[in-house]
Amino acid sequence: MTAVSQSLQAPVATERLVLRLFTPDDVEDRYAYQSLPEVARFLYRPPLTREDCAESIAARAGGTPWQADGDVLLLAVCRAEEPRVVIGEVVLTLTSARARQAEIGWVFDPRHAGRGYATEAARALVGVAFGQLGVHRVFARLDVLNTASVRVCERLGMRREAHLVDNDLDGDRWGSEYGYAILAREWKS
Ligand SMILES: CC(C)(COP(=O)(O)OP(=O)(O)OC[C@H]1O[C@@H](n2cnc3c(N)ncnc32)[C@H](O)[C@@H]1OP(=O)(O)O)[C@@H](O)C(=O)NCCC(=O)NCCS
Repeated sequence: MTAVSQSLQAPVATERLVLRLFTPDDVEDRYAYQSLPEVARFLYRPPLTREDCAESIAARAGGTPWQADGDVLLLAVCRAEEPRVVIGEVVLTLTSARARQAEIGWVFDPRHAGRGYATEAARALVGVAFGQLGVHRVFARLDVLNTASVRVCERLGMRREAHLVDNDLDGDRWGSEYGYAILAREWKS
């Protein structure tokens, strides 16, 4: 598989957005949305602290390999006219290098919601996964109550493949989850 640190140095541009590696200068922008309880609501973890944001950016700012199970490609999403201002992020995790399976995720600043930015960025990342990274299947897992994310999956043309019931605990609430996926051959057609 490809080493992302080598193949994805160049930013990925879409019609309105730029997807690029995070830099240490992005900590405050990232903290602004990752610290919000409403953003973390369906993520099955607490909001991130400033230190969490800084540490994960430091770990990935130089790029990440894309070779082994668990390798993660984390990209900052900026509007093309303000490429230093981070409005959200998309992430791709190599869950099986052998079977070329990757999990996609997205988190956006609510101040930039409702404009199609998350869908546009996720669509670009799916394109990278199936193009440059040679992924066979991209999937997403999301809480069934996370209707905004359900709509992103459906706009991407992903198929709902699973409905897991009470498969996780979100504090004292049983969480249920949808699994969505799309194959490389479906994306290309
Ligand atoms: C999931 C999340 C990224 C979705 O954000 P979003 O703003 O709803 O999604 P988009 O940026 O793709 O915007 C889509 C909306 O913009 C609208 N829109 C407005 N102008 C648009 C344009 N020019 N182009 C495309 N869509 C546009 C669309 O109609 C759509 O509205 P709808 O969902 O009411 O139908 C956001 O809710 C979030 O960050 N949640 C917290 C983190 C999270 O739960 N992540 C997922 C974990 S699995």
